[in-house]
Parts: sequence; structure tokens; C-alpha cells
Amino acid sequence: MEMFSRFLLVFSLFIVLVESESNTTCNITDQELLFKAFKSVSGFNPSWFQPADSNCSQEIRLSSRNLSGIISWKYLKSMSQLQVIDLSSNSIKGQVPGSFWSIPSLKEVNLAKNKIGGSVGFEPNPGNDSFSSIKVLNLSTNRFTNLGKISCFANLQILDLSRNNIGSLPSGFTNLTKLKSLNISSCKISGNIKTISGLHSLTSLDVSNNNMSGTFPSDFPSLDGLEFLNVSLNNFTGIVHSDETNKFGKSAFLHVGGFNFTASKTPSKTPSNPIKPQSKETPPHINSIPKHSSLNKTPPGKSNPNQNQRLKR
Ligand SMILES: *[C@@H]1O[C@H](CO)[C@@H](O)[C@H](O)[C@H]1NC(C)=O
Ligand SMILES: *[C@@H]1O[C@H](CO)[C@@H](O)[C@H](O)[C@H]1NC(C)=O
Ligand SMILES: *[C@@H]1O[C@H](CO)[C@@H](O)[C@H](O)[C@H]1NC(C)=O
Ligand SMILES: *[C@@H]1O[C@H](CO)[C@@H](O)[C@H](O)[C@H]1NC(C)=O
Ligand SMILES: *[C@@H]1O[C@H](CO)[C@@H](O)[C@H](O)[C@H]1NC(C)=O
Ligand SMILES: *[C@@H]1O[C@H](CO)[C@@H](O)[C@H](O)[C@H]1NC(C)=O
Ligand SMILES: *[C@@H]1O[C@H](CO)[C@@H](O)[C@H](O)[C@H]1NC(C)=O
Ligand SMILES: *[C@@H]1O[C@H](CO)[C@@H](O)[C@H](O)[C@H]1NC(C)=O
Ligand SMILES: *[C@@H]1O[C@H](CO)[C@@H](O)[C@H](O)[C@H]1NC(C)=O
Ligand SMILES: *[C@@H]1O[C@H](CO)[C@@H](O)[C@H](O)[C@H]1NC(C)=O
Ligand SMILES: *[C@@H]1O[C@H](CO)[C@@H](O)[C@H](O)[C@H]1NC(C)=O
Ligand SMILES: *[C@@H]1O[C@H](CO)[C@@H](O)[C@H](O)[C@H]1NC(C)=O
Repeated sequence: MEMFSRFLLVFSLFIVLVESESNTTCNITDQELLFKAFKSVSGFNPSWFQPADSNCSQEIRLSSRNLSGIISWKYLKSMSQLQVIDLSSNSIKGQVPGSFWSIPSLKEVNLAKNKIGGSVGFEPNPGNDSFSSIKVLNLSTNRFTNLGKISCFANLQILDLSRNNIGSLPSGFTNLTKLKSLNISSCKISGNIKTISGLHSLTSLDVSNNNMSGTFPSDFPSLDGLEFLNVSLNNFTGIVHSDETNKFGKSAFLHVGGFNFTASKTPSKTPSNPIKPQSKETPPHINSIPKHSSLNKTPPGKSNPNQNQRLKR
């Protein structure tokens, strides 16, 4: 213990010396805040943040360090240059206070694979009606139950909320117009997908394994911009053309709900054998759809949208 205090003293002197002339990226103010924030986190080791070789003022990268316990987020809030925080794959518990998300310098937050719950709130800085500056947010595989103030995350480009317990898509999603990638897979979401139909910048959309409703493709964001789509395991209705199964793959449309799969809407390459949409015959395209899809059992013309294509979870 005495050794440690001595070490700290020498250490501090060293920092003061260094700081007087150079531009340290882990200054003592920020280092102290960091140590306070992780005081109740077991597995945390202060030696990871020696000013000489760390960048703690700007980034905290602690992925897979076997950390457990509760972070005192209020101290991180005071780190005014913090840009990146990665605490993924640990066992951090508790809730993130709304004020954390409004750190003005913050760009990237990864809390994936922890045990964090509660609401993703947002509390602006005093006297500032601002939005969160975060561009990349990964909250995958946690216990979040609510996205109260999601509309304040207006700068988000990448959002991974997969494997949480969100339940519903708040209307605030319509404000996330810069989103390029959205993953809300396995979030136990009910309700219509129309809420996100205005997200025109999306290139990747994974809504698989929920209980969402809506009509494909009219209630969906424009398919033109999308490079990746997975709507599997939901309760949608609509018509999927072979153009779309070709583009996104058949496994993007497994157990979707009441879908009718039809041939291409663009002129067929084999006009001698045209396939009418809604044909009661199984079009040749469909034969290669995986066997476990109930499509093979129930031709589109006879299908009951609600009874077929659901998979036991
Ligand atoms: C401090 O470092 C940053 C980048 O690390 C640089 O942009 C900035 O100009 C430096 N400031 C001073 C005073 O050297
Ligand atoms: C450390 O950096 C912060 C943020 O730039 C600044 O407010 C604070 O004065 C610095 N502390 C020291 C001891 O240089
Ligand atoms: C410190 O972190 C910031 C933010 O991630 C990064 O832009 C910068 O290059 C890093 N600087 C050093 C010296 O590692
Ligand atoms: C992780 O931490 C727990 C206690 O918090 C400890 O029992 C376990 O051995 C640690 N695992 C590893 C791989 O360090
Ligand atoms: C409000 O927040 C924005 C972005 O976070 C920042 O650029 C701006 O300087 C802040 N304004 C005030 C008055 O603090
Ligand atoms: C989020 O983190 C998880 C776990 O580390 C990872 O598998 C996933 O790819 C990340 N999501 C994004 C969009 O990077
Ligand atoms: C979305 O998240 C799920 C679960 O974490 C993952 O399996 C899937 O690969 C992710 N989708 C994309 C497009 O990364
Ligand atoms: C979200 O967008 C709607 C209109 O599209 C607007 O009325 C509302 O003020 C926006 N919310 C925020 C928090 O910007
Ligand atoms: C799916 O959502 C509908 C309402 O849209 C609801 O009646 C049904 O119970 C939900 N099913 C599951 C498995 O959550
Ligand atoms: C699918 O949605 C319908 C209402 O549109 C609902 O009656 C039905 O229970 C839902 N199916 C499942 C499996 O949740
Ligand atoms: C799918 O086909 C059935 C039977 O032809 C029809 O009743 C249903 O309305 C079709 N669904 C859509 C979304 O076109
Ligand atoms: C879509 O999600 C389902 C269910 O999780 C999965 O089986 C399928 O492989 C996924 N398809 C793609 C293209 O990712």
C-alpha cells in the first residue's frame, strides 16, 4: 500500500513535469476522473492508464477485461475530451444516466455484451438543447428496456441494439436520418415497421427475430439504398419478388409472416415461360428456398398469413 502511494506521488510529479511542456493525452484531471468512475468496478487496474502510454483523455478502451460491477458514470461525464469508450464484453451492471450521452466530444460508444439495463435516456447539458454527438453506438446484448429519447441521437450513423428487450420502436426513430446501419434483431419488438420507413440513408437493416408487422415493401425504408436486409422471423405481410430474394438472399426472408413470393417484377429473362404473379403453381425460383420454410408446404395462393411461417423461438 505504501509502495503504491509512493508510486503515485512519483508518478504525479512525473506528470506535472511532462505536462508543463508537452501535450499529454491522459492528463491528471482526466486520469483522476477515470479512476473515480471505475472505483467500484472489480477487475479494473489503474496501471492500464499510465499517462505516458495511454490516451485516457480521449479514449477508454477496455473490451474483454473481465470487469464487473457498476460504473460511476457522472465522473466520465466530466471528461470533456472523451471521444471513444469501449467497454464491450465485460459484466458491467446498472444503468447509464441520461447526462452521459450528452458529452459533447463523444463519437463512439460500445457497451455491447454487458448486463446494462434500463432506459437509453438523454439529458442535454445545462442550458443547451443539444443533440448527442455520438455517431457509432453499440448496445448489443444487454438488458435495455426502453429508448425514451432516441430522437436526440440525431448524429447516429451506426446503431446496434440487437439482443435487448426494447419491446417497441419509439416514434423518435424518424429523426435518425443519418443512420446507415441499424440492427434491432432480437429485441422482442411488436408494432409496425413504418416508424423507420423514412430512414433514407440506411444501407444495412436487420429487424430479424421480432414480432413486427407492416407491409413489405411499402412500409419499409427504400430498398434501393439497402445492401443488407434481414426481415426473418416477424409478422409482416406483402409480396417479395425474386429480384429481392436475389439481392438480399433467401435467408433474409425466413418465416416472415404472410408473404407471397412471386417471380421478378422486371421482364423475365425467359419470356417463353412467363410466371404470373400470385400463380397457384410453385414458380421454379421458389424451389430453392430452404426446406424449412413453410412456403413449400403452402402455396402462396392458399396461405393464411398468420398461421404459416412462424417458427418456435
Ligand atoms: C495536442 O495534440 C493534439 C493531437 O494529439 C494536437 O492536435 C494539438 O495541436 C496539440 N496541442 C498542442 C498545444 O501541442
Ligand atoms: C486536463 O484536460 C482538461 C480537458 O482539456 C482540462 O480542462 C484540464 O484543465 C486539464 N488538466 C490539467 C491538469 O492540465
Ligand atoms: C487518442 O484518441 C483519439 C480518439 O480516439 C485519437 O483520434 C488520437 O489519434 C489518439 N491519440 C493517440 C496519441 O493515440
Ligand atoms: C473474472 O473475474 C472473476 C471475479 O470478478 C474471477 O472469479 C474470474 O476468475 C475472472 N476470470 C478471468 C478469466 O480472469
Ligand atoms: C451545445 O452543444 C453543442 C454540441 O454538443 C456544442 O457544439 C455547443 O457549443 C453547445 N453550446 C453551449 C452554449 O454550450
Ligand atoms: C457490436 O458489438 C458486438 C459484440 O462485440 C459485435 O459482435 C457487433 O458486430 C457490433 N456491432 C457493430 C455494428 O459493430
Ligand atoms: C444483428 O445482430 C444479431 C444479433 O446480435 C447478429 O446475429 C446479426 O449478425 C447482426 N446483423 C448484422 C447485419 O450485423
Ligand atoms: C423529430 O422530427 C420531428 C419532425 O420530423 C420534429 O417535429 C421533432 O421536433 C424532432 N425531434 C427532435 C428531438 O428533434
Ligand atoms: C405479436 O404482436 C401482436 C400484436 O401486434 C400480439 O397480439 C402478439 O401477442 C405478439 N406475439 C408475440 C409472440 O409477442
Ligand atoms: C400476427 O399479427 C396478427 C395481427 O396482425 C396477430 O393477430 C397475430 O397474433 C400475430 N402473430 C403472432 C405469431 O404474433
Ligand atoms: C397473398 O396471396 C393471398 C391469396 O392469393 C391473398 O389473399 C393475399 O392478399 C396476398 N397477400 C398480399 C400481401 O398480396
Ligand atoms: C436472417 O435472420 C435469420 C434468423 O436469425 C437467420 O437464420 C438468417 O440466416 C439471417 N439471414 C441473413 C441474410 O443474415
